[in-house]
Amino acid sequence: RENKRQKKPSVGVSCYTAPDAAIVADAEVDFIVVGDSLAMTLLGHDSTLPATMAVMELFVAATRRGLTGKNTPLISGDMPLGSYQPSDRDAVVNACALIQAGADLVKLEGCMPERIKALANAGIGVVAHLGLQPQMKALVGGWKVQGKTYDEANDLCCDVDAVIKAGAVIVLLEAVPAEVAKWIVELQLEDPDCKDVPLLGIGCGPHVDGQLLVLSDLVGEFRQFKSRFAKRYAEIATEKTGAVLRYVNEVRVRVFPDADTSYSMDKDELKLLLEDKGERDV
Ligand code: KIV
Repeated sequence: RENKRQKKPSVGVSCYTAPDAAIVADAEVDFIVVGDSLAMTLLGHDSTLPATMAVMELFVAATRRGLTGKNTPLISGDMPLGSYQPSDRDAVVNACALIQAGADLVKLEGCMPERIKALANAGIGVVAHLGLQPQMKALVGGWKVQGKTYDEANDLCCDVDAVIKAGAVIVLLEAVPAEVAKWIVELQLEDPDCKDVPLLGIGCGPHVDGQLLVLSDLVGEFRQFKSRFAKRYAEIATEKTGAVLRYVNEVRVRVFPDADTSYSMDKDELKLLLEDKGERDV
């Protein structure tokens, strides 16, 4: 909210492990999303649906442990499929588990004002994820840009309004045309009840209050597919492949390990060892 007041774009990264949390915190990001995208990028599934509460708690806790430096971005933990849809009670119990694991906020997909109210009443900050919702991709017709028609844009704007009025502290829009995102941001600014709530985007163009990218996309590690918005700032997979190839080659040609990468004995102890071998050879 402070960034929004100062008209400074917020920056977030979706990542899941202690070393990655430390790296993105050093880069002074404002927030980390421990997203259920980890089911795909880390665990090899072809959708986010197999993420469970146990998995999300494990990675939220790992991310929290990675924040040992001076920068402590907010951590938002994703509520996986099945953890909030059945009832308000389920949503509150599971959100509390993510908070206990180390999250500051929880993120859930879809326009669910009642759930958001229940969580807000329990004192839990909610990030409402609208637009493309990977958990609902079967319902919205796969990985598609959302809000491309006038009617869809209007529905999306009503959803944004509803989740903010229910108490969402941040709205995250995914894969929405830049013009639609701009229009929604401008309309929300006109509403005194909504104007302070940051509207962040992933694949929504430059007019939102902040940006999010998935770390494995931005460093070029996830290579199964590439979304148009997922700008690559590095080619880590290529780097890693090169490193492993060099290692394999050095072992095969007996260049590695060498004296610098091996331990050695104390000289006197070595002498004893060699004498012992000499005696046994005789
Ligand atoms: O799971 C995730 O990483 C996310 C972001 C892509 C928004 O939900």
